[in-house]
Amino acid sequence: MLSKQDIDDRILVQEHFAQEHLPSQMGSAEIEEYKEKIRRLLVEKDACLVAHYYTDDLIQQLADETGGCVADSLEMARFGSRHPASTLIVAGVRFMGETAKILNPEKRILMPTLEATCSLDIGCPADEFAAFCDQYPDHEVVVYANTSAAVKARADWVVTSSIALKVVEHLVDQGKKIIWAPDKHLGEYVRKETGADMILWDGSCIVHEEFKAKGILDLKQVYPDAAVLVHPESPDAVVQIADAVGSTSQLIKAAHDLPNETFIVATDRGIFYKMQQAAPGKRFLEAPTGGSGATCRSCAHCPWMAMNGLDNILAALENGTDEILVDDDLRERALKPLQRMLDFSAD
Ligand code: 13P
Ligand code: SF4
Repeated sequence: MLSKQDIDDRILVQEHFAQEHLPSQMGSAEIEEYKEKIRRLLVEKDACLVAHYYTDDLIQQLADETGGCVADSLEMARFGSRHPASTLIVAGVRFMGETAKILNPEKRILMPTLEATCSLDIGCPADEFAAFCDQYPDHEVVVYANTSAAVKARADWVVTSSIALKVVEHLVDQGKKIIWAPDKHLGEYVRKETGADMILWDGSCIVHEEFKAKGILDLKQVYPDAAVLVHPESPDAVVQIADAVGSTSQLIKAAHDLPNETFIVATDRGIFYKMQQAAPGKRFLEAPTGGSGATCRSCAHCPWMAMNGLDNILAALENGTDEILVDDDLRERALKPLQRMLDFSAD
């Protein structure tokens, strides 16, 4: 039974999809033409392509070929800060572009489209979140990177999924109580693993929430030797049956390290491109989604990540459109918890 909040969230998402524009299908000659123009403009404009694992294979390929990076959200932030280019093209979703701008105010940060958002970001408005935090003044505020700059500005710590456990363990050692936002499934996973005293915001990822433990177990009957890889934005029942749980980069590593030949993967299917490179010859299967509450346009593929295409990357480079701008005062406040995460992860 869906709650009213769930229904409202789904309506919000459907309204957003009504305005979506997905990249068009291209033939190989057209793809090559786009890639050639992008390669040339990246050099001309002193720009670098920073892409997430969930973007289209063509974008990941191009980022690799042109000396950019394909990474998880933590590494995207690190790479963008270290790279000398004066312009970063961030192929991913909006919070990734905002993070790049907060860390690198002197750089021009362009996105293929500013429309590419995230259900976790949408589901955590800054004013409501601030009021929520005000109820627990003795708690440390830890927010996931998948949030707006304004939500980050209200936080003590920002974390990504690859570092969430370590940061929370550190806070537990200091005897801190924690407010966690926005992903309730990741929060639940972190709470169970660390034993932390945590209050959770009620947000979720529309992609990972659709994975079903029953469907995965049914698939395991067909592939009994398959290992199950799960991103911790998935519901607890799915996490419980995982052989490995982790961020996108940690799941790619698990695909390489585990001896299994077949994997059932509960995260966005865009990750298969790098998984196949990391573990050539192994077989990767999408974890089943579905059930009565499914928003099928999102099943195993993030609709916002899918808005990134060669066409809008080229347009961003040609026209300087879809630039991420963050107000100075807000930027300085959001920088503190973000920098704290980077410093912590460097230790
Ligand atoms: P990672 O930090 O693991 O790449 O996750 C980002 C994300 O949005 C997962 O849905
Ligand atoms: Fe957000 Fe989920 Fe898309 Fe990741 S997959 S960007 S958490 S909506």
